[in-house]
Amino acid sequence: MSRTKAQFKRIGILTGGGDAPGLNAVIRAAVKVAVRDYGFTIIGFEDGFGGLIENRARRLSEKDVVGILPRGGTILGTTNRDNPFHYPVQENGQVVFKDVSAQVMKNIESHGIDALIIIGGDGSLTIAKELWERYNLPVIGVPKTIDNDIGATDQTFGFDTALNTATEALDKLHTTAESHHRVMVLEVMGRYAGWIALHAGVAGGADVILIPEIPFTIEKVTEKLMERRRTGKKFSVIVAAEGAKPAGGQVVVKKVVEGSFEPLRLGGIGNQVAEEIEQHTRIETRVTVLGHLQRGGSPTPFDRILATRFGAAAVNFLAEGRYGEMVCLRTPEIRTVPLAEAVEVMRRVSLGNELIRTAKQMGISFGT
Ligand code: F6P
Repeated sequence: MSRTKAQFKRIGILTGGGDAPGLNAVIRAAVKVAVRDYGFTIIGFEDGFGGLIENRARRLSEKDVVGILPRGGTILGTTNRDNPFHYPVQENGQVVFKDVSAQVMKNIESHGIDALIIIGGDGSLTIAKELWERYNLPVIGVPKTIDNDIGATDQTFGFDTALNTATEALDKLHTTAESHHRVMVLEVMGRYAGWIALHAGVAGGADVILIPEIPFTIEKVTEKLMERRRTGKKFSVIVAAEGAKPAGGQVVVKKVVEGSFEPLRLGGIGNQVAEEIEQHTRIETRVTVLGHLQRGGSPTPFDRILATRFGAAAVNFLAEGRYGEMVCLRTPEIRTVPLAEAVEVMRRVSLGNELIRTAKQMGISFGT
């Protein structure tokens, strides 16, 4: 058994926010290292912060994590609601938002938990930071999201798997686009960052990539499609990030969801672009919205490895007495950054990104 600086015995773990392939690999690694190397007990809270608030938890033994490495989703369940600092409760027939964090602390104490591992995106990591700052609760964050938009880490797990799914979709759309001489638009996720669209667009040989960081004009998009026609290429494939928007326009919001970490549900830009293309060019255009397929399925080897490294490192760092921090990839090492820093900057595609230049050199248009 390793020597530990912090005298922990019991560690809590939860997965918060939207799921991402690799969550189970983090849980597995954390349990294995905690039990084998340090003799800690791990208590898993169910359904993210919901389980912390309602005190739904179970002990995780090595047996519980057998066979979960290749499985998508999370064995603990998750939700992008249930912020303990802003929790909806019914009062006199009305919904009011309350701070129930003191109850959360009581629940944590009731299990004799000394420290908490919070695996999540910016919403969950902000809650982690508040629990640390307000209650001095030893917490360590683990960044996850298919969007790859957490500034403090070179990459989040889940992104590589989502990218594979999006690239495979583009490959499939190519063959049917070519047969029918159509334009095919693929709308992908990513929220306000264009990483999935940019990387899948290059990997899948898209003709046009639309990302939130580069507002497009429909004239430039159609110019590219017509140029391809003139040179004998009768079909085109476009990948549009859900957060892409026209110059001077707004992102397309599908729904506003009260009480969610991210109240604006994006979606619809693919259809909007397709309609305008048909109006301007009369070329038959079809849309595929890839949606939650990007969040599901078995994690790629890259994501399994990164998630395993994060899970093991989270326990190692806690044992060394490092908390109030988030594990991160600073290639080639796994390090930590203070939670305050971790949630400060959203990582978006910078205009000087080398991949944008390369994409343009491949003849890909960004609609500008
Ligand atoms: O943050 C991950 C993500 O999949 C985004 O890309 C997307 O906008 C959002 O979550 C969808 O959230 P939900 O699962 O609540 O529809």
